[in-house]
Amino acid sequence: MAGTVVISARGEQRVRGGHPWIYRADVVDVRADGGTIVQVLGPRRRTVGYALFSDRSQIPLRMLTRGETAADLALFRTRLQSALAYRAALGLDATAYRLVHAEADLLPSLVVDRYGDHLVVQALSQAIDRLLPEITRMLVELVGPAGILARNDAKVRTLEGLEQKVEVLHGEVPATVVVREGPVEYEVDLRRGQKTGLFLDQRENREAAARYARGRLLDGFSYSGGFAVRLARQCPEAVAIDISPDAVARIRANAERNGVPHVEAREANVFDELRRLERAGERYDTIVLDPPAFAKNKASVPNALAGYKEINLRAMRLLTPGGHLVTCSCSYNVDEAMFAAVLHEASVDSHTPVAIVEKRMQGRDHPVLVGVPETYYLKCFILRRVE
Ligand SMILES: C[S@@+](CC[C@H](N)C(=O)[O-])C[C@H]1O[C@@H](n2cnc3c(N)ncnc32)[C@H](O)[C@@H]1O
Repeated sequence: MAGTVVISARGEQRVRGGHPWIYRADVVDVRADGGTIVQVLGPRRRTVGYALFSDRSQIPLRMLTRGETAADLALFRTRLQSALAYRAALGLDATAYRLVHAEADLLPSLVVDRYGDHLVVQALSQAIDRLLPEITRMLVELVGPAGILARNDAKVRTLEGLEQKVEVLHGEVPATVVVREGPVEYEVDLRRGQKTGLFLDQRENREAAARYARGRLLDGFSYSGGFAVRLARQCPEAVAIDISPDAVARIRANAERNGVPHVEAREANVFDELRRLERAGERYDTIVLDPPAFAKNKASVPNALAGYKEINLRAMRLLTPGGHLVTCSCSYNVDEAMFAAVLHEASVDSHTPVAIVEKRMQGRDHPVLVGVPETYYLKCFILRRVE
């Protein structure tokens, strides 16, 4: 018998509106253990649906089904199959991509990324953590990977009272794997790399940027050279900047591997470096800005907006006429309209007229679930300096 959790009328309304999360304030009564799948009841004890339950999180319930449809392992298997079939149908020209994007695949708090023959999973709630052995068995059966790694070192796990750890769940996982994205190969450290190893969500934006890149390239916040290595094939001069020494070492290795050794990898703070380059009178034909999420929560939005404005204003000043700026924000708390407003201000203050050439988002393997704004986090504008 599943445990039960009673929610408020407001919580029930939220579920009816299509959102899978119920916050702590809307939980009225709990008769269940943390980490289990529970029956969710409305204030009049009618079944709202079945959900993953956490006894420590600010989001205690993540809905799996609506109404009387129970959530069992067969449901997980069907949803995994459907997520896998969707990615297969995309026909991506890459060996690394996201297979399961949590809420957007109706598998809340479960992430599965494919890196060639290996999978990396993240269990971001108590119940998914507890279900990992079953999920691993299903992935082995459905995908047949050489190895599965759990990157359960994500900070959000602490909000669930879960331990942070990295462990092999199946087969063998080498220290690094090599994956291909279009014409480019990247060497990836699955155990220690940021996110699950690569910023897979930018794959299609890297591809789009290649349609415009030329001349002198500046890739700010480069990580392992995702944009720089891809674009350097058509940019005779290329500088890639990251603050992390590990990332800079990886940019160099990826540049060598892809026959673009002219990529100059610099360990620096982009904020300082943009100012220095401006003072030095440098100009670039192609600039990429892909910073980390500046707004991790609502309280940090004003500072984040100031940060986005600063780097975009400086980048616009460094841009040659006719040059392109590929500028991104992966802060969920800064929505598309806010980001567009910042770009407008940066354009006005830097006296740089720019036109929007493309308005983009995370790749199609990271779908956005309508009605769940949290699943739309990555904005990417491609701008052209008009004058
Ligand atoms: C979103 S990732 C970039 C991903 C990359 N564009 C790609 O396609 O793989 C952000 C990167 O910014 C770096 N970073 C964070 N703050 C920085 C700063 N102030 N200056 C330079 N790099 C920074 C991080 O180390 C991280 O590698």
